[in-house]
Amino acid sequence: MDLKKLNDIANRMVAPGKGILAADESTGSIAKRLDSINTPNTEENRRDYREMMFSATEAMKNYISGVILFDETIRQKAKDGTPLVQMIAKTGAVPGIKLDKGPKPLPFFPGEVVTEGLDGLAARIAEYVALGAGFAKWRAVIDIGQHIPSYNCINANAQALARYAALCQEGGLVPIVEPEVLMDGDHDIDRCMQVTEWVLKEQFMQLHYAGVKLEGMVLKPNMVISGKKCAKQASPEEVAEKTLIVLKRCVPSAVPGIAFLSGGQSSLDATRHLDLMNKMGPLPWHLTYSYGRALQADALKTWGGKADKIGAGQKAFAHRAKMNALAATGKWSDKAEAA
Ligand code: 13P
Repeated sequence: MDLKKLNDIANRMVAPGKGILAADESTGSIAKRLDSINTPNTEENRRDYREMMFSATEAMKNYISGVILFDETIRQKAKDGTPLVQMIAKTGAVPGIKLDKGPKPLPFFPGEVVTEGLDGLAARIAEYVALGAGFAKWRAVIDIGQHIPSYNCINANAQALARYAALCQEGGLVPIVEPEVLMDGDHDIDRCMQVTEWVLKEQFMQLHYAGVKLEGMVLKPNMVISGKKCAKQASPEEVAEKTLIVLKRCVPSAVPGIAFLSGGQSSLDATRHLDLMNKMGPLPWHLTYSYGRALQADALKTWGGKADKIGAGQKAFAHRAKMNALAATGKWSDKAEAA
């Protein structure tokens, strides 16, 4: 394993004022996005949509450090025949690949899931390295409910993430370790705080047991936030403060950076929260974004599946990327948002 190389890639992924574009929706997830703009989920439409973002060259060069791709996309070519991976690499962003095969029901634990995809993973990693990937992602899903999460769910997911991360490092990819505590429930922010701390403590213990080198990884956590259906929604300041308390308790400073998922927050909330946390620095790690929905929602809506709206869609994407890039250095403001 070349730890120096992994550490260099990890540092590029969390470079100050840049963040990651999560464009790795599985065919099922992208179907929901395209359906929301009444656009058929064809291979060509999926390609056109993603090509629109990857070819927003200035935004990519200035604000995007890496792009997470789905298996189909890493093999796809742009309209003019250029492989999309090449298009991304030319902007200076690192291409990455989603390696997990999604969450599956956890036996004997109703309502809980464990992420699959470890079988044959070493061979898949070798193939993706040859296709040009520099990093990978694996997402675990932890839901909060009346009697969940169970320790079995947290432990099973943390072990799988740790094995994935070790295989990635051995095979030459920087692993993004993503244990996502969902914000779907009616729980309050303190319950999210308690569960997130438990999940992250367990995660770093399993990473240690698996021999994962912290300098060669990126953590992708949820923010500590009220459940969507909770009557009492915490203020942005409380979200920022409690998220930082948990991260400082759990994430060693050897980790080069933390890149949040947006997880169903509005685009504006995701930007505001990240900005507030960076304003509360100095912090032991770079704190940035690895947003899917919060980076893409405006662009998707503006594009609407129409060829003559690609330029407008790119503008919407560039604006969101710029706002998050400002937030990644604590320089975002309502004024910048309106400009
Ligand atoms: P969201 O920002 O839409 O949560 O997506 C990020 C991601 O990659 C989830 O795995």
